[in-house]
Amino acid sequence: MDEAYRQASASGSPDPFSIMEQPNKRDNFVCGEPTVDRLRRSRVPAPKSCPPPPPSYPAQMTLAAWLALNHDIDRIDRELLAAHVLETTRAQVIARPDRPLMPPQRQSLNGLAARRRRGEPMAYLFGAKEFFGLAFKVNPSVLVPRPETELLVEFALAKAKPGDRVLDLGTGSGCIAITLKAQRPDLQVTATDLSATALQVAAENAARHHADIAFLRGDWLKAVRGQFDLILANPPYVADLEPALTALRHEPQEALNGGDGGLDAIKAIIYEAADQLSPRAWLCLEHGHDQAPAVAAQLRMRGYQGIATEQDLAGQPRLTSCLRPNP
Ligand SMILES: C[S@@+](CC[C@H](N)C(=O)[O-])C[C@H]1O[C@@H](n2cnc3c(N)ncnc32)[C@H](O)[C@@H]1O
Repeated sequence: MDEAYRQASASGSPDPFSIMEQPNKRDNFVCGEPTVDRLRRSRVPAPKSCPPPPPSYPAQMTLAAWLALNHDIDRIDRELLAAHVLETTRAQVIARPDRPLMPPQRQSLNGLAARRRRGEPMAYLFGAKEFFGLAFKVNPSVLVPRPETELLVEFALAKAKPGDRVLDLGTGSGCIAITLKAQRPDLQVTATDLSATALQVAAENAARHHADIAFLRGDWLKAVRGQFDLILANPPYVADLEPALTALRHEPQEALNGGDGGLDAIKAIIYEAADQLSPRAWLCLEHGHDQAPAVAAQLRMRGYQGIATEQDLAGQPRLTSCLRPNP
């Protein structure tokens, strides 16, 4: 229950809206006129035979009132949630705050607002996230795709030659693999994950975008056979004692937690990928903003060549790429 609502109840104000949402009070609806107006004038119960209100029953709350009641939620988030439930744009929400909210809309909005208060990412509330201009289904089985990961896709698009075999390790929602295939249908794309539920989401996204991708389940390179011309990964890289892990508690921990120092997955991939890169093939890894020196050191130890780090749009070192070790 939100604060404004709680205060109204505590002060003894009648709640004209609750009756719309409690099926066991439906008997109080009165035929032929807005029930709440009628109840304001009289508390005499309506005859039990009265039918439930039709779906077009006039709303008793405007969008502006709902937005005001939920003032503790960030304004833009509130407006976006309203736009989502009302199947309109945020601009329309702002332009028409006087529009009425039907009880089911209000109920949906209250549910989403409660989840937002608990810190769930907006993308999970919408069930979708845009990445590289494409819409991806997301749910708590997959990491919400981040804008910085688009850099990995740009790297692959710049390096991939026609018909190259590309491997996306830890595909999550499938955003990297599917975007690549959508941009370059000539590529042979394989994507893996350890999580069966993540692979299910990725497969749905691939179908949605008509992307022909081989999905395989397994532990990093153990999931695949053969050689690849380009191996990409945005592995879990948050150190297990980082406060960020708590802040990101709604996203799958196995997608985020990179163990002690955050480098466990990165080290495993660097070690295993060397044998599965074709001659002149690239390995490209996303990592934490402070991990570039450690990642480069691991790559050097394993003999990789041409190690280079790129910055993300925020100017943070985010991506390290290299050529396979000399045989
Ligand atoms: C940071 S998320 C990246 C998801 C997606 N590629 C993206 O960029 O949004 C890391 C992914 O690696 C997967 N993962 C974790 N451990 C793994 C392992 N041992 N083998 C394969 N995938 C793993 C997680 O399930 C998760 O989907």
